[in-house]
Amino acid sequence: MSLFIERSELEKLRIKLDDAVKNGIGSVVFISGEPGSGKTMLIEKFLKECDSYYEQNILTASSRCLDMDGVSRGFLPWKEILIELDADKAAGKDEEKKNNFKKVIKVIFDDAGPEWIQSIDIIGDIAAAALTTAKAISKTDTIDVSTGEVKKLSFAERLKNAFNHSAGAWLGAIPMVGGLFEAIFKTSQKLAENEQQTFLKSQEDFFWLVSKKLRDMAKENPIVIFLDDLQWADLSSINLLFYLARNIKDRTYPLLIIGSYRYECLKEGRFNPIKGIIEQHPLLEKINNLIRYSALDEIHLSLFNKSQIKEIINATFPKNDFPENFASDIYNLTKGNPLFVDETLKNLRENFFIYQDKNKVFRLRSKFTINEIPRTIAAVLNDRFMRLNEEMQLFLQVASVQGERFSLEIISKILGENLVKIEKINANLSDIHKMVHKSDVIDEDFREYYEFSNNLLQKYIYESLNPDFRLSLHRKVATAYKEYQTEDGLKNYAFHLGVASRIFDQKGQIFEKVFNINTDDIKEILVAYKKISNNYIKSFRLEEANIICHNIIHLSSLINDTETEIEFITLIGRGLKLAGKWNEAEKYYKSAFNKSKELKNDELNNRVIENYISFLELKARSFEKSNRISEAINSYIDALQVLKNLNFNLIEARITKQLLWLYMISGKTNNIKKLIDESLNKAKDTEHYNEFYGQLISLISKGIEFNSSIGDGRNNNRLNQILTTLRNTPS
Ligand SMILES: Nc1ncnc2c1ncn2[C@@H]1O[C@H](COP(=O)(O)OP(=O)(O)O)[C@@H](O)[C@H]1O
Ligand SMILES: [Mg+2]
Repeated sequence: MSLFIERSELEKLRIKLDDAVKNGIGSVVFISGEPGSGKTMLIEKFLKECDSYYEQNILTASSRCLDMDGVSRGFLPWKEILIELDADKAAGKDEEKKNNFKKVIKVIFDDAGPEWIQSIDIIGDIAAAALTTAKAISKTDTIDVSTGEVKKLSFAERLKNAFNHSAGAWLGAIPMVGGLFEAIFKTSQKLAENEQQTFLKSQEDFFWLVSKKLRDMAKENPIVIFLDDLQWADLSSINLLFYLARNIKDRTYPLLIIGSYRYECLKEGRFNPIKGIIEQHPLLEKINNLIRYSALDEIHLSLFNKSQIKEIINATFPKNDFPENFASDIYNLTKGNPLFVDETLKNLRENFFIYQDKNKVFRLRSKFTINEIPRTIAAVLNDRFMRLNEEMQLFLQVASVQGERFSLEIISKILGENLVKIEKINANLSDIHKMVHKSDVIDEDFREYYEFSNNLLQKYIYESLNPDFRLSLHRKVATAYKEYQTEDGLKNYAFHLGVASRIFDQKGQIFEKVFNINTDDIKEILVAYKKISNNYIKSFRLEEANIICHNIIHLSSLINDTETEIEFITLIGRGLKLAGKWNEAEKYYKSAFNKSKELKNDELNNRVIENYISFLELKARSFEKSNRISEAINSYIDALQVLKNLNFNLIEARITKQLLWLYMISGKTNNIKKLIDESLNKAKDTEHYNEFYGQLISLISKGIEFNSSIGDGRNNNRLNQILTTLRNTPS
């Protein structure tokens, strides 16, 4: 790690870790601060140190939330964390081993698709199992692909890739790479079998399983988890984090969760695409909640003071003869923001305001005044960007359109340059200019990613692009992603296409008013979104599923694709129904019903009605169970209303009978006669008439019996009258 100036906040983390390791008491600590204040560096430094304080292997893992694509990347940070813990457990205190394991496990996991969630159970053992088996089996150079399935072949290919990238010395110590292959292949099959055994039913099951897993792992090794830039976390990940936080508080164990976030982002709130308004940031709400529950410590990260700046100057320029007030000048300019300090010092050096004399002493140019350096962080970054040659500038511009994290392959496709050349530019930007670095994340297609060395740099370059050029780059990025059918690929494709055709803003939200409606683009986005929503539902990212379904509804309404609209309105309704949110669910079912009336699609109409009715029946029955009879009655009345203009059928007969029953047992006898008359009238010319008529007679008799049996015969006179009239009705 590069130069690190000691900060007092580190001590607070050390105390928490000590409490976890020595007393088994876990905690949650959030570190907030402005961009560039050193949150990431501080916590990463802490994670690196953990192992050196104690004899035990402290399992550490970190992951970042990215402000990259408009559609959130549900649970991704947690997935990375679980993988890293597994690798750490198997690798012991060997950092290099841990990194290599991480890549291998990552491949195994990605092969499981969105169902990876089902495999939490065996996390913490995958890497170890793979290694043990590998050591035990004999040398063989071929992998068992007897099934000959293409999917398995490509999996093997990807594993091979993983190993090419993990050329650690410890791998060399195992002479049977083919054997290791096979071992991991087997492990992954075990993983697949395991899926069937622990089939999760809901998001809560998943949360529970994660917390159980962490508890089990923490029995042997204390755990430290770091989630960076929580202001951009997806809702599912936030929910899981808070579940775990409360869980630690209620029944503590040695888990230390550290989060970081930018406070000013939380104050801005977050757009809610379902309601179409900016709401309180979901994280803020949860933070307040945890504070009330005393389940969270917050640390606001201070900025550097003058003496820390002096320290950083002296460490960067070991032998120097700077003027007395130099450190104060830098402090006054930067207000002590570490990123700003760092960029300013780089700027001075690169512009030769700082130079080395014959004796290798660093000096400030004699006529230098602080006014000569850019006065804002954006301006320093601009200055740095402008000093690059055109080729590098273009590279960074294309990269910035991809987001904070970018792939070289995509840049090479867009610029029509061969990959080697792109790799060379990238190496320069990384080694000499320190503007980019390799990302820890390896995506599902096994493309490697690079990242901007800081998020402000990416934002700065992106924002300064000419608007038309920017849109055209977005379209090119979309095209480049088109062939990747993984979840990441689909998301990127949809996002960039939407931005390019001015449907989405730069955060991936649909514009309030879309002017040029490009039907073809919207159709393409819908196809991708449908696949993604399916993945979400399968992996219990319900909040995200809800959001994407709303987006699908919105987009399909733009191109008058009412059928898709209805399909997804119903889907949301069903989700709400399962969550027992009757009133909200009803709105969706009703809206689908109203929309379907305008369509001439009988099959769809019937399906919508069936769904709506079965919802109303379920709702009525649940009210009945909790003895809320008048609400149940209303629900049945609503159901009959829906069926009003349709031919009489068995469903209508069933609902009518249920409603009659409730009328009888709740003494609402006044409504009975009318309901019987109306329904018999409607049933009159149908094949169901006779059967229905008979059922009504026996139903009323049962009602009379029931009332007597509970000793409440008050209404039985009236009911007997009705029964007599009914018997006299011609059948
Ligand atoms: N403790 C530190 N010592 C030296 N430099 C630091 C320190 N903390 C931050 N910096 C400088 O500031 C830059 C931004 O820090 P970073 O941790 O990325 O900020 P944040 O995560 O708060 O946005 C770093 O790249 C580094 O140059
Ligand atoms: Mg950071």
